[in-house]
Amino acid sequence: MAIEIRYARAGDHPGIGDILDAAFGGTTERRIVERLRADAESMFELVAVQDGELVGCIMFSRLWADSMNLYSALAPLAVRPDVQRTGIGSALTRRGLEAARHFDAAAVLVLGHPEYYPKFGFSAAATGKVSAPYSGSPAFMGIALVEGALDEPLMVAYPDAFSEPQG
Ligand SMILES: CC(C)(COP(=O)(O)OP(=O)(O)OC[C@H]1O[C@@H](n2cnc3c(N)ncnc32)[C@H](O)[C@@H]1OP(=O)(O)O)[C@@H](O)C(=O)NCCC(=O)NCCS
Repeated sequence: MAIEIRYARAGDHPGIGDILDAAFGGTTERRIVERLRADAESMFELVAVQDGELVGCIMFSRLWADSMNLYSALAPLAVRPDVQRTGIGSALTRRGLEAARHFDAAAVLVLGHPEYYPKFGFSAAATGKVSAPYSGSPAFMGIALVEGALDEPLMVAYPDAFSEPQG
């Protein structure tokens, strides 16, 4: 069945919350996403729609860097459990990177499964000069969308939503 990928609207927020809860088995990611929206630190969100139902979601948020370039964090990415492994996560990631280019992001960083993201061009090597809370982890990966955007030392701070308890 064809999958439509489009920007998320406010009316999608409850459905996105349900997908996050189901995919991650808890409410932490939903609350992070709600906090990022409330703090205006979300850059954009995409959803995947199949047969008129939301089946996947991805968020790109702001990172605070010592640079005038715009750096973005990909998180979270989630697909409804009953339709995982059918290409939806890949479609969301690819379209998300395209959209991030339109938003003029110089690079995108992700903390995620080291086996999943390299096929989209992410690598842990690309974050070698990035100072961030996750530096040094094989799960901390990046992709430069503008040539050279990750070649020089870069300090990056994540929005508070990623580190503060979600009350
Ligand atoms: C990870 C996730 C987003 C992938 O989405 P998806 O639509 O299932 O993935 P796709 O169909 O595009 O790709 C499937 C391929 O990715 C790989 N893959 C899927 N989930 C993976 C995982 N958790 N770790 C490593 N590789 C994974 C597999 O190689 C799979 O190929 P296979 O079917 O031949 O085994 C989805 O499984 C999910 O929502 N998981 C729970 C939440 C989560 O972990 N989010 C990511 C946080 S970094």
